[in-house]
Amino acid sequence: QSGINTHKIATGIIHFDTVDSTNSYAKSIAEGQQTGTVIISEEQVGGRGRMGRQWSSPRGEGIFMSIILKPKISPLEGSKLTQIAAAAVCQAIRKVTGLEAKIKWPNDIVIEGKKVCGILTEMSAELNEVHYLVVGIGVNVNNTDLPDEIKDKATSLKVQLGKDINRRDVVCAIINLFEPLYDDFVQDGTLEKTIEICRKESAVLGKSIIILQKDMEVKAKAIEITNEGLLKVQYEDGREDMIISGEVSIRGE
Ligand code: BTN
Repeated sequence: QSGINTHKIATGIIHFDTVDSTNSYAKSIAEGQQTGTVIISEEQVGGRGRMGRQWSSPRGEGIFMSIILKPKISPLEGSKLTQIAAAAVCQAIRKVTGLEAKIKWPNDIVIEGKKVCGILTEMSAELNEVHYLVVGIGVNVNNTDLPDEIKDKATSLKVQLGKDINRRDVVCAIINLFEPLYDDFVQDGTLEKTIEICRKESAVLGKSIIILQKDMEVKAKAIEITNEGLLKVQYEDGREDMIISGEVSIRGE
């Protein structure tokens, strides 16, 4: 019953039965596409996560989609698109399933502390100009048999809800909720609504976390998400720092 009602995002959709990675495919065609083109696949045989990890992408069970975007922004702002996507997916899961989805800054959606969605934003840019961004979204929807190595850290909507979920409803909700947040950002450069959601639904604010950067692990407390979408933390020695959502990941202590 719920269709897509957007003006720009997903006015073009490319649907695959199988593909290596929707992000890789999106990057290969992005130059010739308009902003908003969505690539979606029933399965991925080379699904990619952050930090060179694999993303388990079994046929028909999850959502594997990528959005091609061409905002006129500086490359430094690229990570803001991840925040917009996280806010949209979090709201979409809540709306369709009623589950208490939370955002684990910068790019994971979790339910009861377990990951249900990851976001991989990739960018092609010169010094001050973004050519395009690809925002890749992977959601565990009807998965029941998650790979052993992620079983205690990951879950799916079906595992949490105890029944099958219509993947199309979730895709439509993500797209419909993404567009207004994205429009706000490209029109006036601010992230007000996005950050409001990221703060309200944060799984990390006020908590002790461990920041993993390269090979280092540092303990800190997450104290604020700034209007720019950065995470303000305080280390054990009292020093404060601002973290950009590049190659970092965090976990609970
Ligand atoms: C992460 O948490 O490490 C990010 C996972 C991103 C997975 C999605 S699935 C659709 C898109 N295509 C990919 O190859 N990866 C992203």
